Amino acid sequence: MCIHLSRPDITDREIEAVCAVLRSPNLSLGPKLVEFEQAFSEYVGMKRAVAVNSGTSGLFLCMLALGIAPGDEVITTPFTFAASATSIMMAGARPVFVDIDPVSLNIDPAKIEAGITEKTKAILPVEVFGNPAGLDAVCEIAKKHNLPVIEDSCEALGSALKGKKVGTFGTMSVFGFYPNKQITTGEGGMILTDDDDLADMCVSLRNQGRSKGAGWLAHERLGYNYRLSDINCALGIVQLSRIDEIKAKRRQVAEWYRQMLADEDRLIVPAEPVNCDMSWFVFVVRLKEDFTMEQRDRILQQMQSRNIQVSNYFAPVHLMPFIAQKFGYKPGNFPITESISARAIALPFHNHLTKDQIAIVCTTLKQLLAG
Ligand SMILES: Cc1ncc(COP(=O)(O)O)c(C=O)c1O
Repeated sequence: MCIHLSRPDITDREIEAVCAVLRSPNLSLGPKLVEFEQAFSEYVGMKRAVAVNSGTSGLFLCMLALGIAPGDEVITTPFTFAASATSIMMAGARPVFVDIDPVSLNIDPAKIEAGITEKTKAILPVEVFGNPAGLDAVCEIAKKHNLPVIEDSCEALGSALKGKKVGTFGTMSVFGFYPNKQITTGEGGMILTDDDDLADMCVSLRNQGRSKGAGWLAHERLGYNYRLSDINCALGIVQLSRIDEIKAKRRQVAEWYRQMLADEDRLIVPAEPVNCDMSWFVFVVRLKEDFTMEQRDRILQQMQSRNIQVSNYFAPVHLMPFIAQKFGYKPGNFPITESISARAIALPFHNHLTKDQIAIVCTTLKQLLAG
């Protein structure tokens, strides 16, 4: 039997909510969209929420709403999912990478100012693996330079730093609801902001550039179809109502891993960061420095062949060929990111994992480490 890397947590309540929409006349732009946006903005604590069909669409619309265009630069981290950087490129702008802090694995605030030029138009920090550490320092630098922050919160729904929820730090923030996330809508995303003009622009851009109150064929600007259907929203409403239960289940899984790997000194095991309420997204362990990437890759393969799904979260984004070629990034540019990427192993992590399954994962990993 396979131990999956991720799995959604869907109950009868979600299934009934989706079926109820299917029996209604409103499959899109209906009451569930309004209800999901309201519930989400209330949960996170931002004035406006705009639902979209993915986290990537959400990030891209933030770029457009903030007027980011060809010739502009946006500072971000190379240790993230590709969309943090590709959304910048979709707007025609240049992602300027800044290396990460080796403990939090988030963009290193101390290195950001060296990357700021007169072309810099925004800073895009990511709460990698759900960890919000350092976000306040990033926002201070942005404030000093009068730059907006686009918070990529796709991995961090429910996390908080010093009592302040993730998603409330940025000028705009974006969550993602792919099935491996804390909550899912199948596919989907949410843009949050306190700024009505930015929110209204996103509402128009996600709906073919239509303007509020005008007719169905009145298009005011170049827009997209990034709408999230009421079917997805109904799923999201129930999932969001269960966020505390989901967070608790994931915290328990993380705790079991931490207990069972506590005696393994060849690994760096993630811990709940100080001053943070961590909403666990994945559980990524790292091999110590004396392991090579080839050894890590062999362990990944051997785990897979034993039906334990694992992954190499994250590959350095600046070295993805189409990005390296376009902007001239090379190995060695961001040594902390590259070193951590070479030794990272994402272990199976989801709400359904049992203590016995985690024991199998940990025993197998220890055996493989022993060689
Ligand atoms: C950090 C980060 N940014 C952006 C995204 C993009 O979200 P989506 O897959 O919904 O487009 C994801 C997740 O997949 C992510 O983990």
